Amino acid sequence: MTIRVATPAAPLVALRGIGKAFANGVAALDGFDLDLREGEFLTLLGPSGCGKSTALRLIAGLAEPSGGRIDWRDENAAQAIGFVFQEPTLLPWSDVFANVHLPLRLAGVARETAAPRVREALAKVGLADFESALPRELSGGMKMRAAIARALVTRPRLLLMDEPFAALDEVTRFRLNDDLLALKRELGTTIVFVTHSVYESVYLSTRIIALAARGGAVVDEIEIDAHVARDEEFRASAEFARLCRRASAALRGAAGERL
Ligand SMILES: Nc1ncnc2c1ncn2[C@@H]1O[C@H](COP(=O)(O)OP(=O)(O)O)[C@@H](O)[C@H]1O
Ligand SMILES: [Mg+2]
Repeated sequence: MTIRVATPAAPLVALRGIGKAFANGVAALDGFDLDLREGEFLTLLGPSGCGKSTALRLIAGLAEPSGGRIDWRDENAAQAIGFVFQEPTLLPWSDVFANVHLPLRLAGVARETAAPRVREALAKVGLADFESALPRELSGGMKMRAAIARALVTRPRLLLMDEPFAALDEVTRFRLNDDLLALKRELGTTIVFVTHSVYESVYLSTRIIALAARGGAVVDEIEIDAHVARDEEFRASAEFARLCRRASAALRGAAGERL
């Protein structure tokens, strides 16, 4: 049975009529609207160049929109954002502990004070035994785990992830997908995820927004029941196949004549 809430809570953040034009004349987004719901796993799915990274950067406050409004339900949420990029972007000369400490260090939290939180974040991503390792000693999957720990160490309410697993092999990617879902269950963090993998988007998300090739127009919006367990049974199910077909069709339609 599905229980529908009569008056949904105000969105965590609402983007209204967002435009983002660059100096070279490219309009990455034009009239982009998004209501982000607390607790959801939202994926932005779309062809390369459609404005996904731009949307994340605007939500993170790393860039300013050239038009429209971004309304936060409360300012604390706007300050509590973690960001994971496609590249782990670890400092190569710093060990894992120092890399994960970095956001707290920048906020003025000394190493000794931060240590319990750094170690907690490392334990959550399965890197408890690697705090003294240097990035070059880690596998690709472990580097990404360290980047996720660094994003979680500030205990963000919102985690923005820009194609975080795109460079990983499939086995590692599946492991990280499962571990990310477990982390989300444990922490209750709202996640906005960017991928161009249809399968990954369906496996992870409670909602997928498929974007057009240009300007951020929404070509399809797919809701996926949050109560469905995300496991191998789901991956093998007829429902999973149906959702993937729909997301694929949206992506093909979005890419249009550019394919
Ligand atoms: N700093 C920038 N200056 C000029 N154009 C940019 C800049 N950043 C992104 N773009 C352009 O904006 C469009 C959307 O980019 P992006 O948000 O990175 O897309 P996606 O992440 O979906 O691949 C692309 O055409 C890209 O070339
Ligand atoms: Mg991008």
